[in-house]
Amino acid sequence: MTKPLQVSILGATGSIGASTLDVVARHPERFEVFGVSGFTRVSDLVDICIQVRPHMVALKDEAARAQWLELYKQRAPGASLPQAEIGEAGLKMLAGAPEVDQVMAAIVGAAGLQSTLAAADAGKTILLANKETLVMGGGLFIERARAGGATVIPIDSEHNAIFQCLNPSALNCMPVTPQGVTRVVLTASGGPFRTWSREMMEQATPEQACAHPKWSMGRKISVDSATLMNKGLEVIEAHYLFGLGAEQLEVLVHPQSIVHSMVEYADGSTLAQLGNPDMRTPIAQAMGFPMRLESGVGRLDLAKHGRLEFEAPDLDRFGCLSLAFEAMAAGGASACILNAANEVAVAMFLDRQICFGDIERLNRRVCDDLWPRYALERVNCFEDLLEIDDISRTLAREVAKEWTA
Ligand SMILES: NC(=O)c1ccc[n+]([C@@H]2O[C@H](COP(=O)([O-])OP(=O)(O)OC[C@H]3O[C@@H](n4cnc5c(N)ncnc54)[C@H](OP(=O)(O)O)[C@@H]3O)[C@@H](O)[C@H]2O)c1
Repeated sequence: MTKPLQVSILGATGSIGASTLDVVARHPERFEVFGVSGFTRVSDLVDICIQVRPHMVALKDEAARAQWLELYKQRAPGASLPQAEIGEAGLKMLAGAPEVDQVMAAIVGAAGLQSTLAAADAGKTILLANKETLVMGGGLFIERARAGGATVIPIDSEHNAIFQCLNPSALNCMPVTPQGVTRVVLTASGGPFRTWSREMMEQATPEQACAHPKWSMGRKISVDSATLMNKGLEVIEAHYLFGLGAEQLEVLVHPQSIVHSMVEYADGSTLAQLGNPDMRTPIAQAMGFPMRLESGVGRLDLAKHGRLEFEAPDLDRFGCLSLAFEAMAAGGASACILNAANEVAVAMFLDRQICFGDIERLNRRVCDDLWPRYALERVNCFEDLLEIDDISRTLAREVAKEWTA
């Protein structure tokens, strides 16, 4: 009997973290949880630790560790304690520990970058949910993963669908430009505001923006889905993961979220991956690869759905999507700047400091200011990117402050 694979789940308290824990629990003979991380949801992290008994846990800071310890002792008196680490160093230990085989990179935003890089350097199989790592510095990340001997399997449902349609066994898991591909179509549900006018969207609330019609996700990606920035970030992600040019990438709105993406080949074939919208499918596909594992996701009943619809995205109402295409074409640090501005804008919107329409305006303003300075600059290392990320965030906050003063 082979030993179970050791899995570290970075962002275990989030939506992807919960789906990963669910898949792991279905296959105890195949997977063991080596480590888990959380940030603000300490109580949830305690429950997760009691449930899966990891060897290691990574927490935000010293205060979180003290709170976690107290709750753990209360809820599981006498139980042995996992090794509890804190901060970025703790996340890197979780990602790079020699015992670990697979790292689920599911921290949201640029905060997930350093630990994902640690997994790349340590040659792990990276189950990549954190799209921001690729958006910020896709070229550099892929180089680091190659140099470290890591394998990258995409978790985002669209990229996982593309991965499946590219005959992944021929790719040796590591993304390379596939032979004979003429076009890749990323599908988008269209989000909660697909049919809303610009005027209605302008004053949409965080609750409305987070009420996604098809997917249950964390708040940041839910807002990104409402602006279609999420699709824009995914186009950039696909560009780096599969080595595709802008002219090969297309977005198609598909409200039923059954077709997760499509790959068109030179001979006129188009391959698509279909399934119910549930992240446990791509997670199980990636964790089990090349085996197929039961994921808990129900069978697809196409007769019940009846119709699958497709329409072109409205780039006037969803300007964040065009901004992402522009960032990809501009190259350099453009996407890093856009990603940083967007993270600030979304956080401020969720905090009710700016309105929904301001997200696109703030992104556009920061990009207009900083792209001429940084877009063409060759970015040689992540330190450069982190500096540009910081400059972009500062500018975004300053502009928003002026607007709200
Ligand atoms: N959800 C989906 O269906 C889905 C689909 C495709 C791709 N993704 C991508 O997967 C990633 C995670 O998304 P999600 O929806 O699972 O987000 P989420 O539910 O908000 O969870 C985010 C996780 O990251 C942790 N976290 C937040 N800020 C952190 C920081 N500064 N340092 C360390 N950890 C931090 C959170 O900890 P606490 O909760 O304890 O604060 C939580 O565990 C994102 O990059 C997203 O774009 C998600």
